[in-house]
Amino acid sequence: MTRCPIAYYWRIIMPVMSRETDLDRQVSPNKRKEEKGLDGQLRPQYLDEFTGQEQLKANLAILIEAAKGREESLDHILFYGPPGLGKTTLAHVVANEMNVNIRTTAGPAIERSGDLAAILTNLRAGDTLFIDEVHRLGRAVEEILYPAMEDFALDIVVGKGPGAKSVRLKLPKFTVIGATTRLALLTAPLRSRFGALYRMDYYDQVAIETIVLRGAEIIKVPIESKGAKEIAKRARGTPRVALRLLRRVRDYAQVRADGDITEEAAAKALNLLEIDALGLDDLDRRVLRAIIVKFGGGPVGLDTIGASISEEPDTIMDVVEPYLLQLGFLERTARGRKATTHAYNHLGIPVPEQVNEDQQPRLL
Ligand SMILES: Nc1ncnc2c1ncn2[C@@H]1O[C@H](COP(=O)(O)OP(=O)(O)OP(=O)(O)O)[C@@H](O)[C@H]1O
Ligand SMILES: [Mg+2]
Repeated sequence: MTRCPIAYYWRIIMPVMSRETDLDRQVSPNKRKEEKGLDGQLRPQYLDEFTGQEQLKANLAILIEAAKGREESLDHILFYGPPGLGKTTLAHVVANEMNVNIRTTAGPAIERSGDLAAILTNLRAGDTLFIDEVHRLGRAVEEILYPAMEDFALDIVVGKGPGAKSVRLKLPKFTVIGATTRLALLTAPLRSRFGALYRMDYYDQVAIETIVLRGAEIIKVPIESKGAKEIAKRARGTPRVALRLLRRVRDYAQVRADGDITEEAAAKALNLLEIDALGLDDLDRRVLRAIIVKFGGGPVGLDTIGASISEEPDTIMDVVEPYLLQLGFLERTARGRKATTHAYNHLGIPVPEQVNEDQQPRLL
């Protein structure tokens, strides 16, 4: 029996398409302004409120101004880099700057291709579709996304077997903003469909200090500039960590001092939280210690490290490793991770002779 493709579309596909998932919500620019909640207040809304990442911001500003000048929708954008640096924030900033709606979803939330089809057919011209953890999209879902991003078209297969037909639906021009902590896991075809790729790096201390001061003003806690410096020093170049530490230091200052965030209050609060002078916490130190003490300094695989300290290898890879690499405490080799002499010194563990020799620069 041959089915009429149009009738099939209205009867079977359409109801699926109009379904909304929890993670996928439409937020208008005005509504966004009203968003209360502390996190909402702390999130910069426009480019000029966004501290740091100067080069990225300059490039983004050009992209936005050029698209606005041509009255076109923006090219698809991909933000990648370690967690907590502002990828989600920037996606919203871009939508605000363009004055368009943003619809947010995440790779793991889109289970079936029908879910993505539902989202895509509900978009309006110019809308932004933010896909967080875009590297976690399923294969079948990705294949729907390719023509959607490239040709603004949705290909639907109707029927099965030899009678199957492909129907192409036109979509309005929209912009996908993807975010990922793992660029390497993105498939090449998906990656190539983003017109602008921006890497987010750890922030320098001055930028983090500014973010802490701005955060303190928003949550209305008195802070001295030395107090902000102390927090910034231990925030591992990450705004999310900086704002979290700010809240914990505020609690400490309220309970154990007179409420002001001074250098002393910040230092005492952070020491109590076991966050050391370089911003390493208990988990970072456990990872380093495992490599050094249990595996003779490495090389050792991430899975083995994870199993030895009962932590998810993914957490170690996403949260712990990038910062330790940045500090030069870890080295990535083909056979696994190795601790460097800096890591031994930071933990106060004597450097074995072999490790010392291995890491001396050699004359060729
Ligand atoms: N440049 C910045 N200035 C001020 N606050 C910032 C900045 N960047 C990020 N933040 C704040 O840091 C927190 C984390 O940012 P965000 O959620 O955008 O990070 P992310 O890169 O999306 O992290 P993840 O990879 O975990 O999704 C938010 O509360 C945000 O308000
Ligand atoms: Mg995010």
